[in-house]
Amino acid sequence: MSSEEETSQNSSSSSPPPPSSSSSPPPASHFIGKKEDIVKAGRVTKMVNGCRDILVLHHQGQLHAMDTRCYHSGGALQYGDIEEFNGRLCIVCPWHKYKITLAEGEGLYQAVDDPTAKPLRTHWRSKGVKQRIHKLTEVNGNVYATLNDSSEAIESDVYQTERYRTDLLKTQPKPVAKQ
Ligand code: FES
Repeated sequence: MSSEEETSQNSSSSSPPPPSSSSSPPPASHFIGKKEDIVKAGRVTKMVNGCRDILVLHHQGQLHAMDTRCYHSGGALQYGDIEEFNGRLCIVCPWHKYKITLAEGEGLYQAVDDPTAKPLRTHWRSKGVKQRIHKLTEVNGNVYATLNDSSEAIESDVYQTERYRTDLLKTQPKPVAKQ
């Protein structure tokens, strides 16, 4: 995908497949919690493998997992609203309202064709994958996360450090999470 590819009008990617189910957890996976507890809470944050803070959320019957801190400036995504843009479900960062697709971690923005035209015509476009998305597997009512260990750098990686884990989160406002 190009770095600024226009998003599809009727993208099927807004409905990701449910977490895969099997009889035993994948070898490199990490227990997140009981599915019923995650569904009840709506959102759960957890440090996985001693090194990665992830957000697991339940929305419209689907579970999703991504890096907790926003790729833009480290905003706490667990407090973001979920909205649909151009047919794609996104979490909206509570800090500067960046929109991140739940299924792929793409940053979406509204591009303007011609800033001098009246009225303005805008289109939703993708900046490409900005937030690292992780895989979830459900086994006997338990949910496990397998970290996305792609060697390709993703912008949200920047905020997976001890500094952001301790300092930044202390300073963030904590609005009530909405579904
Ligand atoms: S920190 Fe998320 S939009 Fe700026």
